[in-house]
Amino acid sequence: MSDLQLTILKTLGEKGTIADSSAEFPEINPLTFQSALNSLASKSMIEYKTHESEKYLLNDEAQDIVANGSHEYRLLNKVLESLEGLKISEVDSFMGKNGKVAQGRAFKNGWIGKDGDKLVTKLDKDATVKDSTAEQLKEIEKTGTLANKKDLTELKKRKLITLTKVFTFSVTKGTEFALEIKQLETDITSDMITSGSWSKAEFKPYNFNSQGVIPQAGALHPLNKVREEFRQIFFSMGFSEMPSNQYVESGFWNFDALYVPQQHPARDLQDTFYLKDPVAAKAPEDKEYWDNVKLAHEGGAFGSIGYRYPWKGEESLRTVLRTHTTAISAKMLKDLAKDPKPTRLFSIDRVFRNEAVDATHLAEFHQVEGVFADYNLTLGDLIGFMQQFFSKMGVHNCRFKPTYNPYTEPSLEIYAWHGGLAKWVEIGNSGMFRPEMLQAMGLPKDMRVLGWGLSLERPTMIKYGVSNIRELLGHKVDLDFIESNPAARLDQDIF
Ligand SMILES: *[C@@H]1O[C@H](CO)[C@@H](O)[C@H](O)[C@H]1NC(C)=O
Ligand SMILES: *[C@@H]1O[C@H](CO)[C@@H](O)[C@H](O)[C@H]1NC(C)=O
Repeated sequence: MSDLQLTILKTLGEKGTIADSSAEFPEINPLTFQSALNSLASKSMIEYKTHESEKYLLNDEAQDIVANGSHEYRLLNKVLESLEGLKISEVDSFMGKNGKVAQGRAFKNGWIGKDGDKLVTKLDKDATVKDSTAEQLKEIEKTGTLANKKDLTELKKRKLITLTKVFTFSVTKGTEFALEIKQLETDITSDMITSGSWSKAEFKPYNFNSQGVIPQAGALHPLNKVREEFRQIFFSMGFSEMPSNQYVESGFWNFDALYVPQQHPARDLQDTFYLKDPVAAKAPEDKEYWDNVKLAHEGGAFGSIGYRYPWKGEESLRTVLRTHTTAISAKMLKDLAKDPKPTRLFSIDRVFRNEAVDATHLAEFHQVEGVFADYNLTLGDLIGFMQQFFSKMGVHNCRFKPTYNPYTEPSLEIYAWHGGLAKWVEIGNSGMFRPEMLQAMGLPKDMRVLGWGLSLERPTMIKYGVSNIRELLGHKVDLDFIESNPAARLDQDIF
């Protein structure tokens, strides 16, 4: 309980009301005073009104003048002290930067004059001098203003005073007025209930105007928020989520099953992380499939002449950190061959590439991937479907550009117009899985599979205005950014 609150109560007890808080408590900061009033008013011990007004306040120089006399007055005293007159060159030594003002005003008042290089007094012997500048300022200090508007304007122009807003309060007794402040209970306790004291206790009323405390809680990472948006888009289009929760794959599922030849540069150490332990994975149980993959690579099959190189089983069993989630899609499509039917699958998960880390690349990122299997699909279906998918992300105007991927043919890069950058930017890659891959699995010849992918990081960075990927993922991430960013809406102005 602050002493100020008790002082206010005591003053009210003696005087009945406080008409003007600034007159009664001139030393007290209005904000401090108001917070004491609020506390008392919340207990209905007082009532108060706020009055806003303007008054002139003295700055430092003016306070010096009030305490020590005006510059001209001080100069006059010096001149009077020096019997021989005061050398003009000495004025600055005791008047400092105020020497010029002091001389100018003392001349103007007719107090002093010049005699060669000296200042002499022009006053009669027993004349009385009034320091009007100091008197005016004293008046302003007391009342906040001056009756003579001309003098007021002059002081304002000399920057001795400034007009300032002030708050004062008038206070009257409230219904619960007392000289003592009662301690009100804030919570009912088990002790109060067992002793029965709750029935006599007085409780503090709820303050519905105070802001609640924000509870400490976890927060979703922006990538998770955008991931959730993508999941909802996929679900709305009839897709099921693939079980993508494994980071380690065999080269077989990551590359060979996708008809990526064993000497492809993507399989180099520079691009892919290989594991030392375990160094090798198990071969797939389906021996016929294993042989089909070997045949497709080596000698050609399913209407293809193959890559025509000696395919090595042990190379395909090396363990890798998966470089794309398409490894999972491959396994799912192999399963689909047991009971082929139209199917829509997606995954959004982490993949790893041995890349130099910079502002836009990390050695790991998240891939959004969809596969769509049905009979007799065409390239037109791929383009139409991509337009539908990306329009759900707010991208309504896609362009398609032919490209090369080892496991899709034909393949298309997807571009969107980026208003901010004023250019077409690549937003995804897509294609139709090759027959060398699908027919080796045992899928029927007329079942075609469309696949497409994009990174999760890129739309997230655009959505949240992050230009350096290291501010999004990793040890440099600002936790405040994670906690305070809003939910993502992909369908609204991402591009
Ligand atoms: C008055 O003058 C004395 C001596 O120069 C100085 O120390 C003091 O700060 C002055 N008073 C004010 C209020 O400026
Ligand atoms: C796919 O197209 C072929 C050739 O036009 C046709 O024979 C076959 O019935 C079609 N498959 C389905 C499932 O419609």
